[in-house]
Amino acid sequence: MYIKDLSKFENQLVTLKGWVANKRESKGLVFIVLRDGTGLCQCVADANNIDESYFNDARKTTLETSISITGKVIKDEKQIGGYEIAITELELIQVATDYPIAKKEHGVEFLMDHRHLWLRSQRQWAIMRIRNTITFAIHKFFQQEGFIQMDAPLFTGNAVEGTSTLFETDFYGDPAYLSQSGQLYGEAMAMAHNKIYTFGPTFRAEKSKTRRHLSEFWMIEPEMAFHDIFDNMDLIERFLRAVVLDVLANNKPELAMIERDISILENITKPFPRLTYDEAVKIIKGEVDVNNKNAIVSLEEELTSVVNRISEVEAEIKEREDKIKVPGMKKGEIGFNQAKIDKLKHELNELEEQSRNIPQWLSSARNFEYGNDFGGSDETVLTRLFDVPIMVYNWPHEVKAFYLKRDPENSKFARGVDTLAPEGYGEIVGGGERETDLDLLIGKINEHGLPMEAFEWYLDLRRYGSVPHAGFGLGLERLVAWVCKLPHVRETIPFPRMYGRLKP
Ligand code: 4AD
Ligand code: MG
Repeated sequence: MYIKDLSKFENQLVTLKGWVANKRESKGLVFIVLRDGTGLCQCVADANNIDESYFNDARKTTLETSISITGKVIKDEKQIGGYEIAITELELIQVATDYPIAKKEHGVEFLMDHRHLWLRSQRQWAIMRIRNTITFAIHKFFQQEGFIQMDAPLFTGNAVEGTSTLFETDFYGDPAYLSQSGQLYGEAMAMAHNKIYTFGPTFRAEKSKTRRHLSEFWMIEPEMAFHDIFDNMDLIERFLRAVVLDVLANNKPELAMIERDISILENITKPFPRLTYDEAVKIIKGEVDVNNKNAIVSLEEELTSVVNRISEVEAEIKEREDKIKVPGMKKGEIGFNQAKIDKLKHELNELEEQSRNIPQWLSSARNFEYGNDFGGSDETVLTRLFDVPIMVYNWPHEVKAFYLKRDPENSKFARGVDTLAPEGYGEIVGGGERETDLDLLIGKINEHGLPMEAFEWYLDLRRYGSVPHAGFGLGLERLVAWVCKLPHVRETIPFPRMYGRLKP
């Protein structure tokens, strides 16, 4: 019996097993908010209606005490989940003392150190359920499209995305690397099955502390025979649309819990703008407007309004702090003002972060040099102008991976495509059409200083029945972060591994 199924048991006796998420007492009553992993439900112990021993046990419960509760299911729209339990019996399983994550605000480092417990909190719970929907939706989409799921090895002998971000391990005395991408194996598997996808853990060793980087993340990599870059873009668009629509269909309550504005997600049915690298650069540098918005001018305006709002908020905090210092104010009124002050301080923190970020974005956009890859700031500047994901294709071949096909119409460019999430999020998908010309590919492997011998098997794919093919990689955590509008990818995975964090 689970809380999620209570609606089927109105006015019946049920037994629920779970943990105490909240408790309060008032004369002769104990209110327990029970959490069972499927939902939350208020359970009420009334001293007048139950055995004294049960009532006393109800009083003994503390935050995260595990219990079994039997009681009658009563419909009550006002309650969380729409039902309440009138307790008839209660059994303590384990009484928890001093649960470290109390109701008060904790810093992120403290919460990350207690990730094993933090996962129980409502917000984290909601995020993980959305992640689950996304994982399932990904499999559904590709299976329905006739793709075969296959697995690439995690121990590899060669780099895919450049040698600087490899974790080296000892493989029976020889060096081996943790996989940066299953793509090269995916290409081999696509030549056997036509359309395949891999879905597995991926490792990147860059010592990067940004909000987008994990050392271990999950990547979905489809690879398709007889697809060019444009077929690839069509697939990316249909794929992301299907996944986001699945979240909207299944996770409205969770999205509400984390206060996600879903109108942005609903835009996913609109076509994704496709820009060449050249067009995107002009937008970043403020030479071309988007939807009547100029990247540089809108950032400057926003900075001004952030600065103005900071002084307003600071003034209001001071005013309210002075007010509650005056003796004689009623307790309730002090509480009301204190709550306002806390909220304003929270807003102030966010505004101050923006006032540090915007000048960085501005300088990065103003100084962007044509020919460079986009950095995080450039992606932010660009995607803040859009309310749907965008695709940027045809990149200068020097800044992209060795395996991308040179554009037949202009050899300055490679047929790579990045998909960037809106609202400042940036890259969530990287992919492209693959080089099939054996000589160009050998030239690229040399140019990148990669060991030819390790790639002989990969070159065989161009020697025996080579066909045009394309694919892409979606970072699961980056997608979850955008769908949930989280400030950092660390909250999108149960136990994040990143520079500076290997525990718990
Ligand atoms: O752009 P990337 O490096 O592309 C590849 O690995 C290709 N071989 C994929 C392919 O074509 N089959 O990585 C793909 C995606 C990125 O767009 C991003 O979403 C995610 O993987 N990603 C990371 N996510 C979290 N932390 C990191 N350090 C990430 N690096 C890449
Ligand atoms: Mg990339």
